[in-house]
Amino acid sequence: MINKPNRAFIFDLDGVITQTSEYHFMAWKTVCKKIGYDLTREKNEELKGVNRNKCLDLIMEWGKIRLSEKEIESLLEAKNNIYKDYIKDLNENDLCEGVLNFINDAIKNNIKIALYSASRNAKRILCQLKIIDLFTVIIDGNNVSNAKPDPEGFKIAADLTKTNTKDCVVFEDSISGIEGAKKLNMYTVGIGSRDVLKNADVVYKGFKNLKIKDIINV
Ligand code: BG6
Ligand code: MG
Repeated sequence: MINKPNRAFIFDLDGVITQTSEYHFMAWKTVCKKIGYDLTREKNEELKGVNRNKCLDLIMEWGKIRLSEKEIESLLEAKNNIYKDYIKDLNENDLCEGVLNFINDAIKNNIKIALYSASRNAKRILCQLKIIDLFTVIIDGNNVSNAKPDPEGFKIAADLTKTNTKDCVVFEDSISGIEGAKKLNMYTVGIGSRDVLKNADVVYKGFKNLKIKDIINV
């Protein structure tokens, strides 16, 4: 008898499992104001999936702003403090609709569940959402040297779940995440809008009504 291949679902966190992407945007918007840059929602799409330091590099580039190392450090700290204040009361009610059922169904179908988030706050958020135990592998901003769109974190997730990259499905709301996963020929499910996530294999608005069999053969 031929066994079904090992398969893994690799989830992003912010904007996929919970709507914390909005808090990242609001925190950056406040910080950008301090340095005279107006961060639009459109430009913010390019910050999604991107690590904290690289976000500020991009903002400085877009606004043609020069800052000293000290100013950069203090803005990064300010952004994270504002963000942490937004997420302090986050709890299981803040899970995106349908995502928990979707993950539980995947587990029932023997699909490995991994998380790869650029955020260094990822584990704390998973704890607050009370879903940390569902993941066999968790990769966050502390575990990679190269940020998305580099595929490093996706490769580590595939290796640790002992899954071939071609048998991994990635759920992402960011352009950079889709780009990273595509470099390894992973199947990409965009969560958001097709206008933004142009390169994803398929795009859904969210997990409400989404079934595992819509994505893979079970
Ligand atoms: C990603 C978000 O998940 O994490 C980005 O999409 C954010 O917007 C990045 O910049 C880093 O997050 P943190 O919590 O380490 O500042
Ligand atoms: Mg995201």
